[in-house]
Amino acid sequence: MRRHLFDAREDLANSLARRVSETLNKGLEARGAASLAISGGSTPGRFLDALSKERIDWTKVGITLVDERFVPPSSDRSNERLARERLLHNEARLARFVPLYSAAATAEEAARAAEAGIALLPKPFDAVILGMGTDGHTASFFPDAGNLAELLDRDGRRLVLAVDAPSAGEPRLTLTLPLLVEARFLALHIEGGKKREALDAALADGGPETPIRAVADAAPRLELYWAP
Ligand code: 6PG
Repeated sequence: MRRHLFDAREDLANSLARRVSETLNKGLEARGAASLAISGGSTPGRFLDALSKERIDWTKVGITLVDERFVPPSSDRSNERLARERLLHNEARLARFVPLYSAAATAEEAARAAEAGIALLPKPFDAVILGMGTDGHTASFFPDAGNLAELLDRDGRRLVLAVDAPSAGEPRLTLTLPLLVEARFLALHIEGGKKREALDAALADGGPETPIRAVADAAPRLELYWAP
């Protein structure tokens, strides 16, 4: 795994933002359109603010979420809310956003509904930015998810799946592994010593079979962006 290690979180944010905008721009030049999937949580804020200022033709960029909590955008748990507040402003306000959440009766219904919008985005994604928990989950591939095998199925045909995992906090919606690992640029953005140790343990020979290891094994191009 190619590793980009930074002394400061601000430096990581600026470097990753430049790398993503360069990647999107390459897609725009080559194909006239580009697509990006970002993760939520507490880590990406600085990076998203930096990316929002990049000067590219955002009108031709489709943006979605790697995963989402099954909550409305008004919730402070919503990754859509994070995207709208931290990325879809400044220059990037002109991008087209494709949410995963909809006010369906169940997360499964919302996942099926989200697939229509995801299907219309340019694929493979030009850029996908993953996060990770210290339990080795990434996206919403939680180790205690009842459908983990389906979530990690390299040959799966679904684009979006619902996830019901006790450790997830609430029902989740997640892009599936094939969509993520085929990205032209796939980055894992983590910060802090605990996550770095968790990643090293997960990737060590004979390490535990965790979702992040399954993704790394399926995606030799996965690049690490880490700051303390
Ligand atoms: C989410 C994310 C998830 C996240 C990790 C790390 O919805 O929570 O998409 O996969 O990347 O849980 O979250 P933190 O950045 O908050 O540590």
